[in-house]
Amino acid sequence: MEKKITVITGGATGMGYAVAEELGKEGPVIIGGRREGKLVEAVEKLEAQGIEAYWHLLDISDVESVREFAEAANAIYPIGNVVTVAGIYVGQADNAGIIRVNALAPSTSTRSSSPT
Ligand SMILES: NC(=O)c1ccc[n+]([C@@H]2O[C@H](COP(=O)([O-])OP(=O)(O)OC[C@H]3O[C@@H](n4cnc5c(N)ncnc54)[C@H](OP(=O)(O)O)[C@@H]3O)[C@@H](O)[C@H]2O)c1
Repeated sequence: MEKKITVITGGATGMGYAVAEELGKEGPVIIGGRREGKLVEAVEKLEAQGIEAYWHLLDISDVESVREFAEAANAIYPIGNVVTVAGIYVGQADNAGIIRVNALAPSTSTRSSSPT
């Protein structure tokens, strides 16, 4: 069967990283976030567990960045699943920023990752 890749936004830390560890047991994963150092570190830890893992920079509040992330994933394997974990806590941005990241981004990610 054709391999499919699982896309995980916010996959370098916290709950997203935990998702990458679990779903990575089933197949390849690609994680996205804004901090390259965190992404590289997370992929190294996943690979050390035998997981096929990739990273790509992503700012989920930027539609073009989300599109590029989805294209990068699809260039490796067709996207099979999208897990939107990237998010911010109250206090990390103003109200508009929180809405862009926590409320709008899940829908943008899913649309960008879906077959047209
Ligand atoms: N942990 C809990 O118990 C809990 C409970 C309820 C709700 N939540 C919510 O669930 C979400 C994840 O929680 P967590 O504990 O796993 O937090 P976390 O460790 O801070 O992870 C958040 C991840 O999202 C990424 N991220 C944030 N803004 C982004 C953006 N604009 N573009 C791309 N990636 C972005 C961060 O990476 P970069 O900063 O590198 O971009 C980071 O890897 C948060 O929204 C949190 O409020 C958490």
